[in-house]
Amino acid sequence: MTEPTLEAKGKTMTKPLMMTLDRYLRTRERIGPELIVTIESVAHAVKRISNELARAALKGELGYSGTVNVHGEEVEKLDAWSDKVFVDAFSAGGPVCTLISEEMDEPRHLKAQCTRDSFALLYDPLDGSSNTDVNGALGTVFAVRRRKPGHGDSLADVLAAGTEQIAAGYALYGPATMLVFTVGDGVSAFVLDPATGKFMLWREKITMPPRGKTYAVNQANAAKWHPGARALVDRFTGPKDQGGGYSLRYCGAFVGDFHRCLLNGGIFLYPGEISSGRGSAGKLRLMYEVAPLSMLAEQAGGAGSIGHGRALEVVPGNIHERVPVYIGSAEEVALADKLEVEGRSRS
Ligand code: AHG
Ligand code: MN
Ligand code: MN
Repeated sequence: MTEPTLEAKGKTMTKPLMMTLDRYLRTRERIGPELIVTIESVAHAVKRISNELARAALKGELGYSGTVNVHGEEVEKLDAWSDKVFVDAFSAGGPVCTLISEEMDEPRHLKAQCTRDSFALLYDPLDGSSNTDVNGALGTVFAVRRRKPGHGDSLADVLAAGTEQIAAGYALYGPATMLVFTVGDGVSAFVLDPATGKFMLWREKITMPPRGKTYAVNQANAAKWHPGARALVDRFTGPKDQGGGYSLRYCGAFVGDFHRCLLNGGIFLYPGEISSGRGSAGKLRLMYEVAPLSMLAEQAGGAGSIGHGRALEVVPGNIHERVPVYIGSAEEVALADKLEVEGRSRS
């Protein structure tokens, strides 16, 4: 008697993944040659980082570098190494003339690559780096913006709202390495096949459920939040018939928590903290964490807010500006805005 196939057991086998990232990029109208090169360079950097993360423990490459970055955060060896992977990947020619990184105090301008229509790449090379030494989820976040011809040393053309992004995405280094991005016509996800080194199309036109069952927050900070943020979390943890019954899922990497919201719905929040006097911003950086993931959220039918307004409309004052963030399913983010989670709206 032959073993019944999965189909016979009523389970349909998922089709083998056949579309490679290279072919996908070349079969989309909205993706011109410069963006193809840019996304392929991101994919190349992501493959190198994925490979290194898988072997770092074996090579003794874990732990702190002993330096502190512009944010006053201790830099993990892999933060610095991952940043260098991006610098190398984008300094060998191509349409990107400016690199803006969480790990670089100032932008790096690649003058030789500065032509009439070059790009800026904004990125967080390693997100969730406190997970590095405990084999936890890690990510990379990136966004692409056009640079205005003749920008010279000015950053005015880059310090613009997130609606100016022409592409945004992230890599998630989990049991599998995934690359998820948008160029403005929906969200596509690719999974790295370690056997071939190819990113294979896993899902496209991903839509985020309008409501989820999980919320992601570092609840230990609750005493520092605005009362509205506490009211929001009280709603999630309250009785099911009053909009509650949620589970808390928080992995310490924005990318990992966001990916769960993208696929299953739910919300990630990192509220601002009421410091003495003026309310202080949250922890996450607008230009290379919140704005890229907010573009993905909106492209998938979700939302990204700073608690009193659309994150993609915030004009940054500097490249490392921090903002509070409430991002994920449309219903939960709308509830956050309604509960004035960041205090009375300023408008
Ligand atoms: P990064 O490692 O790039 O600095 O990002 C860490 C961020 C974000 O990924 C995560 O959601 C958050 O910091 C965790 O902050 P707490 O440890 O304060 O919860
Ligand atoms: Mn980060
Ligand atoms: Mn980082």
